[in-house]
Amino acid sequence: MEPYFWLALLIPFFTIFYQTAWKNLNHNQNPKFSWPFIGFLPQMGSLAHRKLASMATSFKSTRLMFISLGSMRLVVSSHPETAKQILSGNAFSDRPIKETTRLLMFDRAIGFAPSGKYWHHLRKIASNHMFSPKRILNMEGFRQGVVNNMMQEVCKEMKDRGLVELRGILHKGSLDNMLESVFGSSNFGCRGDELGLMVKEGYELIGEFNWVDYFTLGFLDLFGVKKRCYNLACKVRDLLNGIIEERRRIGDFRTRDDFLSVLLSLPQEDQLCDADMVAVLWEMVFRGVDNVAILLEWIMARMVLHQDIQAKAQQEIDMCVGPNRHVQDSDIANLQYLQAIVKEVLRLHPPGPLLSWARLAIHDVHLDKCFIPAGTTAMVNMWAIAHDPMIWPDPSTFKPERFMEAEFSIMGSDLRLAPFGSGRRACPGKALGLATVHKWLARMLQQFKWLPSQPIDLGECLKLSLEMKKPLQCYAIARSFKK
Ligand code: HEM
Repeated sequence: MEPYFWLALLIPFFTIFYQTAWKNLNHNQNPKFSWPFIGFLPQMGSLAHRKLASMATSFKSTRLMFISLGSMRLVVSSHPETAKQILSGNAFSDRPIKETTRLLMFDRAIGFAPSGKYWHHLRKIASNHMFSPKRILNMEGFRQGVVNNMMQEVCKEMKDRGLVELRGILHKGSLDNMLESVFGSSNFGCRGDELGLMVKEGYELIGEFNWVDYFTLGFLDLFGVKKRCYNLACKVRDLLNGIIEERRRIGDFRTRDDFLSVLLSLPQEDQLCDADMVAVLWEMVFRGVDNVAILLEWIMARMVLHQDIQAKAQQEIDMCVGPNRHVQDSDIANLQYLQAIVKEVLRLHPPGPLLSWARLAIHDVHLDKCFIPAGTTAMVNMWAIAHDPMIWPDPSTFKPERFMEAEFSIMGSDLRLAPFGSGRRACPGKALGLATVHKWLARMLQQFKWLPSQPIDLGECLKLSLEMKKPLQCYAIARSFKK
């Protein structure tokens, strides 16, 4: 019989059994009530951010909502003030490590390493060598080359199919960009495509409900998720170990500036062992590829849907850059409306609506005068904050103009919109991600007029990131661009 059937029977039982996760605490300042999730968790999955937001509003628990998820104590913030306490304080500086995460090696990478010396070391290496402003600038030529190829693909699809499905093109461009940054492109060959497929599989696995993470009967591995994670990790390890070995053999890493070469040429005392290097390289590709591609697909869907806004952005590009040369990174500062469009899409469709990765309390702490014991998981529902009518007037309307009225930083200082998180564990790839998104968007708008080929479906699906449920299809009509 289907494992889903048995799980459907077992989960309500175990959820009720464990719903005392909050109440068992021997402390007089416990939250008075916690909401158990009864039922089948995967059903909550693909729209969890919306469901959690409406629960918080219905129960008037936007500041903090206490939930028992199996044996796990979870606190959810849907308010900028409590979000700031969680993200920027010292208490929530670890991340809960799930079985899938460990199996896929992420516990040794930046995102999940406990916030001690090792994590500091990794962040320092990454910010000096992978994400520094100088390096982002140095990579401009490559980003330009990738977007040239993407534009050619757009023309080709229009010619062959009469319409464009952007998802594949964006994903390939984003993968090429990351591979260059992490490994350097030369001599990489078809291993790039292999890695792309592994990233895709990893996203599916990590986004899939794995009940091992919430209930203690995980050894049963009813969905086979553990086994699939293990198999994938073996493939990733083999591929990356091969690449590391090859680079060592060729020995030219001191003259190159890709991230792998940087890791190999660190002074002896800073060197990572091969297993840790594999984890960090894998994480960079894994995270860098999808977020950028997913965000750009949402932006283009909005551009196709709102023709007036698209035209206004094109007018700005024409005025600041003109039709005789491509947009450069240095033009972006002058493209204020384009930047406002990106902010508005990050508000309405943040790739990480629950900030993707939760935080874990490393010591007891008080949030809003409530006692939160060490080991509690905290989640910030950024989607709920960004859709709160008390904070954002007319929140579901797409209106980039709201960001033209006053300066607003989305880099983590203002928790009314912090799509890259905030505090010491905020996204280290945000500047690189934004540089790529701004440049590629500007180029797409400079070169083509984008029109709907069918009604745009803004349906969403939360896997690891918040994706468009159906791939965007549209027409791309060449504009009078002379280059
Ligand atoms: C549009 C692009 C991106 C978005 C929306 C995004 C979003 C996020 C968010 C919400 C977090 C969690 C922050 C927190 O807990 O406060 C995060 C963490 C992280 N991101 Fe990004 N990200 C993007 C691009 C990238 C890129 C391009 C890379 C690397 C190539 C990257 C690498 C990471 C890493 C390593 C972490 C974990 C940081 C830590 O735990 O110390 N991200 N990102």
